[in-house]
Amino acid sequence: MKTHSADESLRQPILDTLADSWMQRAAVRKEILEYDEAFDSARPDFPEHLVPFRDHPLYSGGTSAMRHQVLAGMWAWYNEKTIAIEEQIVNPGCRTLLYEGLAGLSDLTIKRALCETVVDEDYHILMCLETCGVSRKRRHIEKLVFDEPVLTRLRRDRLEETDLEWERNIISVAYMTIAELTINAYLKLLSSEETIQPLHRVTTAIHLRDESSHSRMFREILKSVYRRMAPLEQRSYIQELRRAYRSFTTAEWAPWATVLAFVGFLPDQIAALEVHSRSFPPSILRRDLISVVGFAEEIGVRPAAILGE
Ligand SMILES: [Fe+2]
Ligand SMILES: [Fe+2]
Repeated sequence: MKTHSADESLRQPILDTLADSWMQRAAVRKEILEYDEAFDSARPDFPEHLVPFRDHPLYSGGTSAMRHQVLAGMWAWYNEKTIAIEEQIVNPGCRTLLYEGLAGLSDLTIKRALCETVVDEDYHILMCLETCGVSRKRRHIEKLVFDEPVLTRLRRDRLEETDLEWERNIISVAYMTIAELTINAYLKLLSSEETIQPLHRVTTAIHLRDESSHSRMFREILKSVYRRMAPLEQRSYIQELRRAYRSFTTAEWAPWATVLAFVGFLPDQIAALEVHSRSFPPSILRRDLISVVGFAEEIGVRPAAILGE
């Protein structure tokens, strides 16, 4: 059994700083947003340069109302996928670290940092729900319904493949690791977009501030957990990180097709737009590789073992 002092000896000063500064820095503690008032209907909800069929005449030759609805639909999708990640991947991963008795986690500062993270993520869920709720209402797309993101389905499928408790814990922590180490790239992209709704830029910038702290914190906590794993657990964790990374970067056409059908495109038109989109780099999959590479090097693993060759 690990002792309290052994955990403390592995704790980096940065964890104390991040946990202690939460009351002053966390969005849930300091940001008060007036969601509906900040909406500017002349601006798109989502960057048009990220639409993979933006130069196809079926889209570019359509009305501006239709294009605004498509962009608002993708903003809703992005936020609802983010909610699914927070709710079904990050918070369950935090609970695995908090309550499943993994070595290296009995220290009070680490527990406090994890509880603070869960509160942050719940606030992000609320913020995403509010901001895409405004777009849904203003663009008249309240009835648009998406299927479950492929990512959360793949994680659930993977969990169902094993009854071993230790392996299920590793899968849960691995998906959370990739979520928390790679979320920043897309938040950076959206928070620096001058063309979109100011509200959307602000909410992604607020989310990014919290996630920058999470990323640093999790690198420290997970290093401590990894060092204390048995060799079999370490091998399994790296394999699951690789699986999780593949899940996070699996391209999805379905949400685009859902939005296009909702705004009135016919199946053959949607098929033509899909074919056209295949030559477009999937920016929506943009993830933060630098953090993963840094983390891999810190735990003594080749980055390719996680990212693929
Ligand atoms: Fe978050
Ligand atoms: Fe986070």
